[in-house]
Amino acid sequence: MASRRTSQRATAVDPPVDRVEVEEVTPKEAEEKQNYSWDQQWYPVLPLSMLEGSGPEPIKLLNRDLVLWKDDSGEWVCTGGICPHRLAPLARGRVQNGQLMCRFHGWCFKGDGLCAKVPMAEGDDKAEKRLIGTACSKLDSYPTKVRKGLLFVWPHADSAAAAQSEPFVAEELSESPNWSVFDAPASWRVWLEQSWDPSHAPFLHQYALPNFSPELAYPMEPFQVEDLGDEGLSAVHGGYMQSNKGMTAQRRFAPPCANSTSYLYPDGRIVGFNFYFVPLEEGKVRQITTSYFVPSPQQASQKSNLSGNMMQMSKVVLKGRTVGSTDQPKDLRESLVVSLKRRACEKWPELGRIRRGLKIQQLLQGLIGDQDNTVLSFQDSVGLPAVRSGRLRQPQVSQRYGGPATEYLLETPADELVARFGSWVQQRGGGPFGRKEGAGPFASRG
Ligand code: FES
Ligand SMILES: [Fe+2]
Repeated sequence: MASRRTSQRATAVDPPVDRVEVEEVTPKEAEEKQNYSWDQQWYPVLPLSMLEGSGPEPIKLLNRDLVLWKDDSGEWVCTGGICPHRLAPLARGRVQNGQLMCRFHGWCFKGDGLCAKVPMAEGDDKAEKRLIGTACSKLDSYPTKVRKGLLFVWPHADSAAAAQSEPFVAEELSESPNWSVFDAPASWRVWLEQSWDPSHAPFLHQYALPNFSPELAYPMEPFQVEDLGDEGLSAVHGGYMQSNKGMTAQRRFAPPCANSTSYLYPDGRIVGFNFYFVPLEEGKVRQITTSYFVPSPQQASQKSNLSGNMMQMSKVVLKGRTVGSTDQPKDLRESLVVSLKRRACEKWPELGRIRRGLKIQQLLQGLIGDQDNTVLSFQDSVGLPAVRSGRLRQPQVSQRYGGPATEYLLETPADELVARFGSWVQQRGGGPFGRKEGAGPFASRG
């Protein structure tokens, strides 16, 4: 049962800043929350559109080396990616006859992970008895599900729990959204924090989009936050720069790694963003993203070529024009994308050799992602460790939001979601890489 916690702000003048009333948590409740299992969750790993043939495709997830491949059922399965014989990477092997064959000495594995063949053991009863279909030679195998074009992996052997659980995918998305993927060298923690922190956009992302600039920023009003227990957090907030003044944003952290956000503008337009920050390994995430645009009623009535009320857009605006948005006819959108691809390939010829094809939105999304990375990777590698070690200063408890001491100074309404996110994760054991020694609510790069 999800516990609820809502901001209530005091009117007293002392202390000088408002405080959130935090519900009392009994030791038993605290212990139950700590039982949140970070590996018994669904994590998206790749869109199906980016998987080729039958694999094998290597992935990292929660520090594990895994491999995706199609077994004889024709479905994508996920197994451990290290051969039990001599530890060769199974991603260098090949799939034949619905089995994964190791490149080093040809051991073959089935989709359930059991070893089916050891070429050097044929005719050797003793070796075959020891190795074929036995626990000692079995690869770990992990449940998979496909939802809205994404392949999800449950990085735990308990398939019964996986069958009863559904991956989080925003309901409003179409059945096959246009997903973008890029891997980023910063932790799950700081990436999710930045997604809970809209106020950084006009500063860090200045000039990435025409309406992002420090001059256009203004202080945020307090958020309305709801704690959904193990279902995460939801928040409603208003604008933070002139171009989104008057809008109402719904922001949701859906554990273990999703942020689903929509902006509703006064004229009825909706822009939605869906992000996953998949914890590949400590200090590295895979960002899987899609976005959508719903025109205002007036825009919709003016456009005869709209095929539906909700259209996918390709995420990034170029000089005020959205590439692939609903306000251009389909053939124009396509020609724009083709022309942008051609120009990009002329400038960077190696882009033309990308095996999975060049997605223009991935290129453009990279600009904003790079801006994030410049700060986030610094936080990870320099800022947070410096506070934890005491070299910079001691961790601080927020006067406004209470909670555990953190590496940050979270004292404005715009900081509330980062503070709440930190408390949520702290209560559940420190994030996907667990709690480690040190100061702060995470004390881990996870
Ligand atoms: S290491 Fe895989 S078969 Fe030898
Ligand atoms: Fe950002």
